[in-house]
Amino acid sequence: MNVVDVDTPGGQYPIRIAAGRIDRLAESIPADATAIAVVTNPVVGALYGERVAQALAATGKRVVHIELPDGEAHKDWQTLNLIFDAMLSNKLDRRAVLVALGGGVIGDMTGFAAAVYMRGVRFVQVPTTLLAQVDSSVGGKTAVNHPLGKNMIGAFYQPISVEIDLDVLTTLPAREISAGLAEVIKYGLILDPAFWSWCEANAEKLRALDPPTIAYAIQRSCELKAQVVGKDERESGLRAILNLGHTFGHAIESGLGYGAWLHGEAVGCGMVQAAELSAEVMDFPRADVERVRALTEAIGCPVVAPDLGADRWIDLMQVDKKTEGGEIRFVLMPQIGEALMRSVPDAALRRVLDRTVETA
Ligand code: NAD
Ligand code: GLY
Repeated sequence: MNVVDVDTPGGQYPIRIAAGRIDRLAESIPADATAIAVVTNPVVGALYGERVAQALAATGKRVVHIELPDGEAHKDWQTLNLIFDAMLSNKLDRRAVLVALGGGVIGDMTGFAAAVYMRGVRFVQVPTTLLAQVDSSVGGKTAVNHPLGKNMIGAFYQPISVEIDLDVLTTLPAREISAGLAEVIKYGLILDPAFWSWCEANAEKLRALDPPTIAYAIQRSCELKAQVVGKDERESGLRAILNLGHTFGHAIESGLGYGAWLHGEAVGCGMVQAAELSAEVMDFPRADVERVRALTEAIGCPVVAPDLGADRWIDLMQVDKKTEGGEIRFVLMPQIGEALMRSVPDAALRRVLDRTVETA
């Protein structure tokens, strides 16, 4: 088993990475827990619910199962309330522990429920998508969507551990693997040029989930994310670079309706757009824009953005947590392996939109 430690003001905890990790989940439940509530959805529940239930039975504690409808379209306030309904009707107290068994949608909603149920209970992340393993389960961002903006209602709240089982990736659809790989290559682009080149050299093996290759990618991604959130848990500066491609990506997601494109697909395409914008307003080399486009395509993500209309694109991008005083701020790259945040002239943004959206 590999362990990556996360150390933030809001909590210190391990990310444990191993094949078969979900069979040993009892080890992650604190001895003083009064009950365990496993939050999942019908897809993940059907695949792994029974194994998790068996593993947790070893604690001897009461286990409550909470099933939420599957999908980004259900990452909302109404669905969140189902967790509270189940916790209250089962009389779960402050020492109950929540277990988020699923992808980023389940993880973000369970984390938010844990942050506010009785003003805070402990929770364990058991991410079952690649995207959740390399990104959303780490760092304590929890949220639900609002019809007017993605992840707009939420809290920073750290889990007590992240339990990554490498085996569960084998049941993921290919599209979900590509979406997760978008977040993997993102770390190379913003922080680690050697990791970026390694991803370029291993794109095929990554897509095929070659065991040692994907295990290394997950570990390196978690290390890089842990470094960033350890320095800036609440995104007062540095952490914003983790949002490379997200300003464009969130506009795609809310513009097309949540769930039409996968989050990682939208981020992948958004990274190509961010690379184009970096070349437009900074000295990011054109040849590197093409490298970003080529690797995004090689991992199976779209590289041509939908035509939402330039004004609507800009309108949607203004509903972003990085926007200040109505000014959209983008994560841009001076070079591969380095990122910063800045606003851009409207004309430059419109030129990039023009170049990167599909033409009729
Ligand atoms: P998801 O949670 O919707 O999961 C994708 C699909 O895969 C779902 O249908 C799910 O049921 C299914 N699934 C999950 N595990 C499976 C498995 N092992 N086998 C087969 N099917 C499986 O999507 P996601 O990509 O995991 O997460 C996206 C969400 O994460 C977005 O809401 C995004 O905003 C959020 N996010 C949060 C952060 C953060 O820091 N908190 C970071 C990145 C993304
Ligand atoms: N995925 C962005 C962050 O965790 O900050």
